[in-house]
Amino acid sequence: MNNFTFYNPTKLIFGKGQLEQLKTEAGRFGKKILLVYGGGSVKRSGLYDQVMDVLNDMNAEVHELAGVEPNPRLTTVRKGIDICKENGIEFLLAVGGGSVIDCTKAIAAGAKYDGDVWDIINRDVFAAEALPFGTVLTLAATGSEMNAGSVITNWETQEKYGWGSPATFPQFSILDPVNTFTVPKNQTVYGMVDMMSHVFEQYFHAATNTPLQDRMCEGVLQTVIETGPKLLNDLENYELRETILYNGTIALNGMLQMGHQGDWATHNIEHAVSAVYDIPHAGGLAILFPNWMKHVMDENVDRFKQVAVRVFNVDTEGKTDKEVALEGVDKLREFWSSLGAPTRLADYDIGEDKLDLMADRAMAKGEFGKFKKLNREDVLAILRASL
Ligand code: NZQ
Ligand code: ZN
Repeated sequence: MNNFTFYNPTKLIFGKGQLEQLKTEAGRFGKKILLVYGGGSVKRSGLYDQVMDVLNDMNAEVHELAGVEPNPRLTTVRKGIDICKENGIEFLLAVGGGSVIDCTKAIAAGAKYDGDVWDIINRDVFAAEALPFGTVLTLAATGSEMNAGSVITNWETQEKYGWGSPATFPQFSILDPVNTFTVPKNQTVYGMVDMMSHVFEQYFHAATNTPLQDRMCEGVLQTVIETGPKLLNDLENYELRETILYNGTIALNGMLQMGHQGDWATHNIEHAVSAVYDIPHAGGLAILFPNWMKHVMDENVDRFKQVAVRVFNVDTEGKTDKEVALEGVDKLREFWSSLGAPTRLADYDIGEDKLDLMADRAMAKGEFGKFKKLNREDVLAILRASL
């Protein structure tokens, strides 16, 4: 293990009916509140009305930013910052999935910064402070509800970057599995692919002696593999939704990444793909991850063999380590396909024409990847294998 410091101040409030804690939690930060939500799912589900009842009960002065896009855009972040600055907003409440939460984080930081918020997202400027914010999560996927990360797209320049600072952890996050009942099948699949991908990003690292970290990662992967197919046949099953919701948070709240540094190259390549083509984040991951695995496998075949055996139950009899490892990757692809995830960029009508642009975007901050450092040729090879 490497030396490490673990810091995560987000108060996690989990379970049925936990929205009742919103009044106390939000009440700690002031009455001028910006409510941030997406394209309408919270209105259709009735959650918007429930949240407004609580905010009205607090006599809060509520301002609203609606219509946050999946792959949230810089233009929307700027709108939110203007509302904050014009109205002296004291607290932000994100009600939605990762996109709504990520947008809220950028607004919270931008509202405390005099320059253009893109400086922060672009990581030219460190966000030393942010307005306080909380979340009511509606989709199990990103872990944004309990981490400091945010991913924002500048659609004009086709750039999508992740950023974060200790100031952008949510103050609290309310996770009621019932609020995820209405997530449609395809988004439920994307969510599960995303959380498994977060585990893989952290499982493949260069540190030694991480036996507990390995088992914790494998536990999350196994739980999603056991639960996912059942959930897709029973979308309003409380226990299955509960399990997946908890998995999503654990997969990216820092608990799996103590004592080592994750790779995160596949996320970087996916962000380049969705910056250029605006495809769902986890759709891109489902396509790219197995190809990244095959590309970098020789760095440490043993780790790939370990996950193949422990998580995908690959039989080792009469096979080389590499054959076992490759079979594990095939089993991962098979599992994601069985859920209905895409397998090729062609599934999104993406061909060869913008490969160079996507590679440029991925390389914007130089070579990347902690398990194996990737250069432009590596990125192009992974993208070509994904066509
Ligand atoms: O906009 P609405 O109408 O709310 O609909 C959303 C959206 O269309 C819908 N949805 C959400 N909750 C629902 C629901 N529909 C019905 N019932 C509900 N309860 O689902 C669609 C997708 O929502 P979105 O928030 O975009 O999905 P997700 O949570 O997967 O977030 C994806 C974004 O997060 C970023 C991705 O790059 C992408 O931009 N990521 C953020 C990370 C982080 N902050 O730590 C890490 C991730 O790796 C990821 O990169
Ligand atoms: Zn992700």
